[in-house]
Amino acid sequence: MTSSLSSDALTYDDVLLQPQYSEIRSRSDINIATNLGRGVELELPIISSPMDTITGGYMASSIYKLGGAGIIHRYNTIEEQVLEVVDAYQHSVNSISPIIGAAIGISGDYLERATALISAGVDFLCVDVAHGHHIMMKEALENIRNLTPDFHIMAGNVATLQGVNDLSDWGADSVRCNIGGGSICSTRIQTGHGLPGLQTIFECAQTDRDVTIIADGGIRNSGDIVKALAAGADAVMCGSLLSGTTETPGDVFEGSDGFKYKVYRGMASKEAQIKWRGKYSSFEGVSSQVPFRGSVVDILKDVERGIRSGFSYSGATSLAELRSKAKFVRQTSAGLGESRTHIATRKW
Ligand code: XMP
Repeated sequence: MTSSLSSDALTYDDVLLQPQYSEIRSRSDINIATNLGRGVELELPIISSPMDTITGGYMASSIYKLGGAGIIHRYNTIEEQVLEVVDAYQHSVNSISPIIGAAIGISGDYLERATALISAGVDFLCVDVAHGHHIMMKEALENIRNLTPDFHIMAGNVATLQGVNDLSDWGADSVRCNIGGGSICSTRIQTGHGLPGLQTIFECAQTDRDVTIIADGGIRNSGDIVKALAAGADAVMCGSLLSGTTETPGDVFEGSDGFKYKVYRGMASKEAQIKWRGKYSSFEGVSSQVPFRGSVVDILKDVERGIRSGFSYSGATSLAELRSKAKFVRQTSAGLGESRTHIATRKW
């Protein structure tokens, strides 16, 4: 048998949604809520990544207040992760009980961690590994399901329809889709594997299982979110979009240029591995410094306005309607150049 070449694969900048007739008079008439299954219902279809420079208790409670959900990262001791969960509920004293997720792995103390997190009150678990279409994921999902039959379990990451179907059959309610497409990822360069992000969603959304799809990584703006949802995602997961904000873990520092920064790094970067394991093996991510951007609240409010506007351009008042009405067209690199603001590069 020889290897094979699949058809070409598209990503966010390769396509646009064709504007359509609309009868929507106000963007507040648009419902962008999503239901990920087993009680995880969000007003805003955005989930913050389980990364040590993105989601601790503060981010998880803040994003919930804006309608989304956060997944508290697992790169710490069980006790420390539980304290972050408690912190998320403290930060939430005056609001209704938030939906908080927490990540676990597939080896070592993961069952003990799952038990402690459930006792601490989390609303869903995320089985979080780089290559989720794996026998150890199967074993972990079966064990976690035995532990907690009715709990919402998110799992990933995968890049194929078969991956989604298998994770669903093994017990996942929602699946994170995309391998190596994130802003801090180097998996595709390091390993030669992956699939462009939007194509991943087109393919994974073909599933006939009762499972929801999370478009994870590579989301840079509200336009990408609208494209991911139109392609079949039920929600998006974001790291860089939320990075450098007050609510992320880590300190603000002054760069050599006098501006303020925070660290944002891949969890498979050399730096993250050394911090959490004391050593590194194959590193498939990078560590970077990103500008300090103030509160995530203002950023996400702008993003939400952009998503509502996007639904309105497709004449859609709900996620289901967006999917049924969406008409994707391919754009050339000249089209992409025209799509971006281009006054600054104009040759006068
Ligand atoms: P964005 O583009 O939102 O991507 O910054 C965040 C997503 O990237 C994934 N992730 C990694 N992928 N190497 C990878 O290949 C890494 O070190 C790494 N760290 C995080 C993850 O899916 C996250 O949600």
